[in-house]
Amino acid sequence: MQVFIEKDYSAMSKKAAQIFANEIQQKPDLVLGLATGSTPIGTYQELIRMHKEEGLDFSKAVSFNLDEYYGLASDNPQSYNYFMFENLFNHVNIKKENVHIPNGLVSDVETYCKQYDEEIEKYGGIDLQLLGIGVNGHIGFNEPAEELVLGTHLTDLTEDTIKANSRFFDSPEEVPTKAITMGIGSIMKAKKILLLASGKNKAEIMAKLLNSDVVTTKVPASLLMLHPDVTIIMDEEAASLC
Ligand code: GLP
Repeated sequence: MQVFIEKDYSAMSKKAAQIFANEIQQKPDLVLGLATGSTPIGTYQELIRMHKEEGLDFSKAVSFNLDEYYGLASDNPQSYNYFMFENLFNHVNIKKENVHIPNGLVSDVETYCKQYDEEIEKYGGIDLQLLGIGVNGHIGFNEPAEELVLGTHLTDLTEDTIKANSRFFDSPEEVPTKAITMGIGSIMKAKKILLLASGKNKAEIMAKLLNSDVVTTKVPASLLMLHPDVTIIMDEEAASLC
């Protein structure tokens, strides 16, 4: 595992974007695993800049997003689908048919989730998976639990997550209580994982993660310690308790 501590959010984002850019340049048909939340926005902005100013080419890249709120339509401004188009896809030359984001409105969720994992496999698996981290250690929407589900699945969000994510909604009551998320197995199958953490509110979970010598499903991100190619990039605030 490689750990980088960067001065601030902007430096963290630039470092992450550089890693992305290197991978795409080496393998133009890279299969990207993408994340939402406030953490990756700066990375996406930097990738957009590299596309516009340096010609970084996404025309052959394929993307799979980690998760989507269940019950939100893709054109709902709070949906992760909307977020991804606003913050990245509308501004780079990725082909819309190469973009995959879980559909929050499917009725046969079980079949749909199985197909989502099969589709990832069809492309040869995820080459580079970007992750943020929840304050409770969740990745994607794999929440702390006795057991974690391997594949893509429908899950209940914890109170912690609903509270943390309510800042994007008018009130906590509006936050969906369920989501479709790639499972811990789908994430661990990625060839390379890049986890970003920024800000004081991530300091406690990052210290817990990096100072611990056990893995536990109670801190889903701790399972990443078993992965052979993980890079963690934090800013100084997120690293302040490590
Ligand atoms: C959400 C997403 C996660 C994300 C987390 C942290 O719950 N499902 O993928 O990592 O929030 O979000 P933020 O980056 O805004 O702190």
